[in-house]
Amino acid sequence: MITIVVSSQKGGVGKTTVSINLAYAFARSGKRTLLVDADPQGSVGLSLTRQSRMLKGFYDAIDNPDLGLDQMVVPTRLRTMSMVPAGQRSEYDLAEEVLSGSSSGVRRFLKLVEEAGYDMCIIDSAAGLFGVTADVLSASDAVCIPQQAEPLGVRSVPKMLEALTKRREVNPDLKVLGVIMTMVQEQLPESVDSVKALRNLLPSTLVMEDVVPRDDLFIRASAKGLPVGVMQDGAGVLAVFDGLRREIEQKLGI
Ligand SMILES: Nc1ncnc2c1ncn2[C@@H]1O[C@H](COP(=O)(O)OP(=O)(O)O)[C@@H](O)[C@H]1O
Ligand SMILES: [Mg+2]
Repeated sequence: MITIVVSSQKGGVGKTTVSINLAYAFARSGKRTLLVDADPQGSVGLSLTRQSRMLKGFYDAIDNPDLGLDQMVVPTRLRTMSMVPAGQRSEYDLAEEVLSGSSSGVRRFLKLVEEAGYDMCIIDSAAGLFGVTADVLSASDAVCIPQQAEPLGVRSVPKMLEALTKRREVNPDLKVLGVIMTMVQEQLPESVDSVKALRNLLPSTLVMEDVVPRDDLFIRASAKGLPVGVMQDGAGVLAVFDGLRREIEQKLGI
């Protein structure tokens, strides 16, 4: 099993959107895929199903070694795709001791996922590289970093990669797949320039070739609780995430 974390120090950059649609792309390609909501605000759960908000999930599992995966997994209409919501507890409810020791809980959870036969585990994380997210990064195979295509945001990316590099001291096997540029507006010079600026700033291996365009479909899809690919007119976006999936597969050699 391959575990990919979608992570960023910033909120609102498209982590949840990338997580849902990337998981969908992997699932459509035939890989048994589990989408895990590791954001205590539970945004994947919010956007996928209403009843999933009542279920136990990732944060409960960290705290409770007896919780089985079948008590957390929510199936989707796509046979190869399931999800685990954030759960009833949140990072804020968990005691300091639990949080500082969450790494064993995270590992135990990922072991359950692997034993259940999943090929891919895509984890949507909360903004920031600390706390439980740090433990998720320590236990995962790879990380990708969504970044909104706007001039100011791009400048902070090298600093973020530096912070991620510190994580790699704990987990040298963590592969940095690279930055995924999101909400790119082809018609807006500042947006296009920010993509170019980032490509100039970083080695080419650290910026994904495919970019996610800004599209109202994403907002309409999340209101309906769906990946964009299942929406009418979603074919273009589906192709983007299929491209990202293939790029990731190439980088991981899978
Ligand atoms: N490519 C996109 N085009 C248009 N809107 C987007 C796009 N990606 C994300 N959004 C919207 O931007 C907001 C923040 O995205 P989200 O994925 O929730 O970010 P994060 O998880 O990093 O906080 C959401 O309302 C989402 O629907
Ligand atoms: Mg989010």
